[in-house]
Amino acid sequence: MAFPPQFLDEIRARVPLSEVVGSGVRLQRRGAEYVGLCPFHQEKTPSFTVVESKGFYHCFGCGAHGDVIRYVMESEKLSFPETVERLAGRAGLAMPERSPAQRERERRVATLHDVLEEACEWFRRQLAGKAGAGARDYLAGRGVERGTWERFRLGYAPEGPRGLIRHLETRGIARDLMAEAGLIAGGRDGREPVDRFRQRLVFPIGDRGGRTVGFGGRAMDDHPAKYLNSPETPVFHKGHVLYGFAEARKPAHDAGTVIVVEGYMDTVVLSQAGLRHVVAPLGTALTEGHLALLWSMADEPVLCFDGDTAGYQAACRAVDRAFPVLKAGKSLRFALLSGGQDPDDLVRARGAGAMREVIDGAIPLMDMFWRSRTLGQSFATPERRAALERDLMVSSERIADTTVRHYYRGEIRQRLRDAFAGSWSSDRRRRMRQRGRLDRRRMDVWSHGRSVEVTPRLPGGPAGPRGMAERALIALPLLNPGLLERVAESLAAVTFVDPRHESMQKCLVDALGSGENLDSAALADHLKAAGLAGLLKEISGTAAASLYVIDSVDMAESLWRHAHELHQCRDVLGEEIHADAGAWEDNPTDEAWQRLIAKVVEREGWQARVPASGNDG
Ligand code: UTP
Ligand code: MN
Repeated sequence: MAFPPQFLDEIRARVPLSEVVGSGVRLQRRGAEYVGLCPFHQEKTPSFTVVESKGFYHCFGCGAHGDVIRYVMESEKLSFPETVERLAGRAGLAMPERSPAQRERERRVATLHDVLEEACEWFRRQLAGKAGAGARDYLAGRGVERGTWERFRLGYAPEGPRGLIRHLETRGIARDLMAEAGLIAGGRDGREPVDRFRQRLVFPIGDRGGRTVGFGGRAMDDHPAKYLNSPETPVFHKGHVLYGFAEARKPAHDAGTVIVVEGYMDTVVLSQAGLRHVVAPLGTALTEGHLALLWSMADEPVLCFDGDTAGYQAACRAVDRAFPVLKAGKSLRFALLSGGQDPDDLVRARGAGAMREVIDGAIPLMDMFWRSRTLGQSFATPERRAALERDLMVSSERIADTTVRHYYRGEIRQRLRDAFAGSWSSDRRRRMRQRGRLDRRRMDVWSHGRSVEVTPRLPGGPAGPRGMAERALIALPLLNPGLLERVAESLAAVTFVDPRHESMQKCLVDALGSGENLDSAALADHLKAAGLAGLLKEISGTAAASLYVIDSVDMAESLWRHAHELHQCRDVLGEEIHADAGAWEDNPTDEAWQRLIAKVVEREGWQARVPASGNDG
């Protein structure tokens, strides 16, 4: 709708929001604001706030939010132009002149909504009626309950060829309007057009307010086009709609987050499973329009991607798409499913709890970014590290928000330092040695390490590159079905420092020898039988697991090989000790001391087992 922005601003400035709201809601003044009972949901204690000075209202109970125009649209159920006209009258402003072409366009948009609504209702009746028996069976077969499909207003498009066309004709709707609404196909070369959706389960797609703007139709056999969507129309723009938006809005506000899945079915099934804060784009990559919609629902939407290579690539693309539009406080999280499953499969195989775990384990945008640039690659040479640094820094340039960019750059530097700490500290060690600064006291610590009373466990589990490599060597085969077979031989030859990892290694290798089909559940049984349930939980429980659940077994393998290489490099622990000793020297805190001692003791255990170690210490 093309009203000049200045005109709309004039309306906002002239019509006091509190007066408009106050005509229907009893408002009480509280400081600079007004509060009252929210007109958009049922409540007993007022959580609806009007901030007159800023010209907006906000409900802390249901998330309703907007300015005076939105308020009138939603409370009076008026269209945008109708609202503007009414408020302009109230403000004593003359409506801006509209050309006849504009008027015509507006009239048609209004009618398109009516046509789409009529079609939606007709599809619904088909699903509920005789023609829909097969589709109802199909839904039942996929575990979708009647209450759920009614809530999502699913429908059925019968075989056709012109059932919908005929119905709309009886309502006096012209063919060209049907065409403009994207409901008919063919009809060129003088042939008679047919219904666009035939023999499909129909998912109506709503706009922000839940008005039907298009449809997705799923074939129920193995038709080559599994899904067919409405074409772009004056009211349907794929880049600006999310399936399930209106249904998810309040649940997302309650949950404080929103889940983004890839498909219609995923949305419906998750919602049925109690995860009602769920939406999906329409089979296209996420656009900036989608991100804006998502951020209007929650600060950190969780994007779920299927556990295959395509899903992983889509996740990487989403990172790049988000960068230019990141704002302070607005980010994304990523949940990558494993084993080629989509959320619908997962919920049906393992229940809503399994899906919740995946969501809880979602990784932050920064981690996904890092992963997208490093996964499965080796950075063994300074040149490769330099290339990585350049790539990360150049990518971060695309963050338009200067504050967010600043923090990203800091985080990137920190991660590079951490990732390559071993090698950098080796330069440092060399320099220190050259300067004759190797400290005698520190040498004493090393030789008397055993006599000092410490627990040889670092706070928060294994830390540092070697400790992480060790954990990865165990966790990757555990959490990525199919990987164990590929790496078993190398795994069997690894010498672990942590005795629990050693038991797990033995158990995994033994399990493979048993010859049974080793999916995650079977592996878990073996580990439990071997008394390793605790460690298994530590590795596969909650957030930690998502670090190790990799999207394809090829990628998991290359990551495993990378960790193996790192682990084989026995010097790494020595490097860490030097670095920690340096850190303690610079800043002799108790914590730095404990960390140093713990590693010294750990290394002694390590050396005892690997006599041929090339460690110098
Ligand atoms: P998927 O192929 O992952 O299908 O497509 P799905 O959602 O798991 O569907 P089911 O479980 O087989 O029924 C994901 C999304 O991509 C779009 C649709 O939006 C679909 O939900 N898509 C897919 C299309 O638009 N056209 C297609 O032919 C396939
Ligand atoms: Mn599916």
